[in-house]
Amino acid sequence: MELAGKHIVLGLTGGIACYKSAELCRLLVKAGATVQVVMTEAAEQFITPVTMQALSGRAVYTSQWDGREPNNMPHINLSREADAMLIAPCSADFIARLVQGRADELLSLMCLARPVERVPLLLAPAMNREMWAHPATQRNLAQVAADGAVVLGVGRGDQACGETGDGRMLEPAELLADLVAFFQPKVLAGRRVVVTAGPTFEALDPIRGITNHSSGKMGFAIARAAREAGAEVVVVAGPVSLATPRGVRRVDVKSARDMLAATQAEVPAADIFIATAAVADWRPLTQADQKIKKDGSGDAPTVAFTENPDILLTVAQSDRARSGALFCVGFAAESHDLVAHATAKRARKGIPLLVGNIGPLTFGQDDNQMLLVDAQGVQELPRASKTECARLLVREIARRLPGGIAT
Ligand code: C5P
Repeated sequence: MELAGKHIVLGLTGGIACYKSAELCRLLVKAGATVQVVMTEAAEQFITPVTMQALSGRAVYTSQWDGREPNNMPHINLSREADAMLIAPCSADFIARLVQGRADELLSLMCLARPVERVPLLLAPAMNREMWAHPATQRNLAQVAADGAVVLGVGRGDQACGETGDGRMLEPAELLADLVAFFQPKVLAGRRVVVTAGPTFEALDPIRGITNHSSGKMGFAIARAAREAGAEVVVVAGPVSLATPRGVRRVDVKSARDMLAATQAEVPAADIFIATAAVADWRPLTQADQKIKKDGSGDAPTVAFTENPDILLTVAQSDRARSGALFCVGFAAESHDLVAHATAKRARKGIPLLVGNIGPLTFGQDDNQMLLVDAQGVQELPRASKTECARLLVREIARRLPGGIAT
């Protein structure tokens, strides 16, 4: 219910992408938002108000002369109560109308009449690639952005007209993610964040290896939350089957040594390093080039292990981390005596902030309970979904940064 309590005006303008707006409306409602659909006359050529009314559970408005409003002012009444207006699809013509401040039909009238400082306007453009690339469209987009609208960008690929290129409307799930992110406080704006996530895989031979049950969910939730908070985010991911959070760059790795190399390539440009990965402590000393076969003797092979590098410790000992230019955060998954173990681990790793949790209560789960350990002491956070935990952690990190934002 990531949009619980939010009231969204969903505006549809003329474009074949209107068929995706039905799904978008459903997703917004499922996320807990109340949705007021407003359609232009051109939008009604592509999808009916009946469909949108059924999905939103509210009567759709299409005219500035709608007599259902007692004061006959739908442009005032509908725009005042919105937490945001999202125009999806937003046609090239509608963007041009916004630039001119036109007010001769309900939706553009509402965009003009909305209280600009209180009701944000988000645009999801949708059009043919030539229309998108045309200097008039690009000029108009720059102008609406300068006037305060948030332009969400477009997708690339096959278009309804048979051409291929930029200009498709973003998918409904992408628009939902963008809207949810829009409402998050931008406490990490301008910061660069590197997150390690998931397990590592330490090969024994080309077929087999050693790994663990880490799902990567916590690390991916943190990457997402950091991105939503305005940061530029890279997730260095061990083998996990999770979708990359929107707007996050992903580097896939397998072994601890791969993860160390990828992390070291990324951290010199970062302000924050968050180590959530469950890195294997040991790897097989040797890796067979070919599959190790049973020889019929009944004897099992003996595997010798060697210790893996400690990625967090290595990064925390770098000059940038020591000087405070790189803020390092570690995780400790324990089975008991969490406070004692987490406090000791923070000291051992030499990091400003360590997050403790009880391993069996978090691995593979969708929720978690975190204990924050820093130089001031120990703070227990409430049990919550990993998404909520990640957002809380991001705020806690932000307020500990040099020049950080009070939250
Ligand atoms: O020492 P321990 O494995 O308990 O420490 C856990 C923390 O250290 C986590 O933040 C984990 O991501 C990080 N770590 C690491 N490289 C290792 C082992 C742990 O980055 N080889």
